[in-house]
Amino acid sequence: MLPITALAHPNIAFIKYWGNKNEGLRLPSNGSISMNLDGLETRTTVQFEDSLSADEVTINGKLSHGDELQRVSKFLEEVRKLAGIRQFAWVKSENSFPTGAGIASSASAFAALALAATRAAGLEISPDGEAAVHHEPPFDQAALSCLARRGSGSACRSIPGGFVEWAAGTNDRDSFASSIAPPDHWDLVDCIALVSTDQKSTGSSEGHALAGTSLIQASRVEDAPRRLDICRCAILERNFTSLAEIIEEDSNLMHAVMMSSHPPLFYWQPATLAVIMFVREARAQGLQVCYTIDAGPNVHVICTAAAEVETSRLLAGISGVQEIRSAKVGGAARLVENPSTPKD
Ligand code: PMV
Repeated sequence: MLPITALAHPNIAFIKYWGNKNEGLRLPSNGSISMNLDGLETRTTVQFEDSLSADEVTINGKLSHGDELQRVSKFLEEVRKLAGIRQFAWVKSENSFPTGAGIASSASAFAALALAATRAAGLEISPDGEAAVHHEPPFDQAALSCLARRGSGSACRSIPGGFVEWAAGTNDRDSFASSIAPPDHWDLVDCIALVSTDQKSTGSSEGHALAGTSLIQASRVEDAPRRLDICRCAILERNFTSLAEIIEEDSNLMHAVMMSSHPPLFYWQPATLAVIMFVREARAQGLQVCYTIDAGPNVHVICTAAAEVETSRLLAGISGVQEIRSAKVGGAARLVENPSTPKD
């Protein structure tokens, strides 16, 4: 079968997903909203082959073993089931950004893998939502988003483009993400203040499983529809002040859950808090800037395009900030020209 390459962007959650109501299916406890990150990407090539006796996976030039290989293989098993094939696959995946440091590499990884693997397995999918040709019922963008979710929850939000909402849903087929506004709707920028590129000690899969041990999680989940409404409206109306207040509240709530879990999870470093304090002060002074933090120490500083140069300049002056990566709003997962096979 032919090799297929797909590209997907990571995303930064404005309203966070933390905790599952069904761990096996990755059905989230609450809905979430995110923005895709342009310029950062995972490219993944997949080829199913008769000659293989097991899946062979290379990530950023290193052959995968153990849990990492098992997670990808389990995902490919779902694809084989859907496509009705038995061949194992070569998978080669490259990130253009550091893995495991709060830049949601698993989101772009499983989104790119879902698209490349389904196409390589012969399932006809159009990420633009066009009906499938060879698969009944149509294997459309929603089905692709559901599949990506099985690899990593937030990956379902890297399938559609721009500003994206993942409706929590109630079952395997209605828990998927769709676009609420295209990339050119609002020229926001994510200035990622990297304070560490080390691999985090507790991955998000383990973290989700701990969420319910925090006393705060039930209230966080109960209040999620309110935060989702405010965030969705702020995006649709391009209301920066409203967006800033709700995404900071949501990020603080998620980290409060993490810090009050059993055992507690502390993702922040001293420089993380320094950036938070700086951003709050800069906004009070009139700069259109706010922060949100995923399961890692790096701070995603969201600003308007007009505030980007000033934001980056100020962030660079904070002790402990090693580097700043800026990303505009990114598009949907898509197929790319395939110059090589995964074995090269
Ligand atoms: O998709 P996962 O299992 O890596 O979880 C993502 C969790 C957060 O990044 C912390 C929040 C989110 O909604 O992306």
